Amino acid sequence: MIQLSNVNFKYNNSSRGALYDISLDIHKGECVLLCGDSGCGKTTVTRLINGLIPHFYEGELTGSVRVCGMNVPEEEIYTVSRKVGSVFQNPRSQFFCLDTSSELAFGCENLGMPVEQINERVKYAQKSWNWKIFWTEIYLNCPVVKSKESHVALCQRCSRIS
Ligand SMILES: Nc1ncnc2c1ncn2[C@@H]1O[C@H](COP(=O)(O)OP(=O)(O)OP(=O)(O)O)[C@@H](O)[C@H]1O
Ligand SMILES: [Mg+2]
Repeated sequence: MIQLSNVNFKYNNSSRGALYDISLDIHKGECVLLCGDSGCGKTTVTRLINGLIPHFYEGELTGSVRVCGMNVPEEEIYTVSRKVGSVFQNPRSQFFCLDTSSELAFGCENLGMPVEQINERVKYAQKSWNWKIFWTEIYLNCPVVKSKESHVALCQRCSRIS
């Protein structure tokens, strides 16, 4: 499903490479943890998978990056985003809305889905992620809610991806 083959990447504004000869094969249903020293290239690998490299972060890229049959560097980023969702280190930085239901609907709205389908997906995301303990307001400055921010971001990505 996610396949990196002999990938090398150097950011344009950097004098040295960020990744050297990385190969990786992730199959459907697998949960993979990338770990390693700070600066070893974990975030750079995720940017290759979601297409931010080379569409946003430019540089010298060799090797192949394929996700769900797509050749990521050659696809438009909006096409990649139909299959790949990212939750950032600070999820708050990627929220657009003031309440969770609107936030969950946001990605689907962006894709122009019919209202009925959006409602279905939002309900499904809320139910399947067992939100009984979740409060609808995400911008409360409370630790309990704060720990749920990545949960909201994850659900938003899941509800829009087909
Ligand atoms: N936008 C950028 N422009 C130039 N160089 C970058 C950029 N982002 C990362 N790098 C460099 O690429 C290398 C890999 O960085 P990356 O952020 O992928 O590492 P990381 O494993 O995610 O680190 P951390 O654990 O600190 O998050 C580092 O040398 C870093 O300085
Ligand atoms: Mg990182």
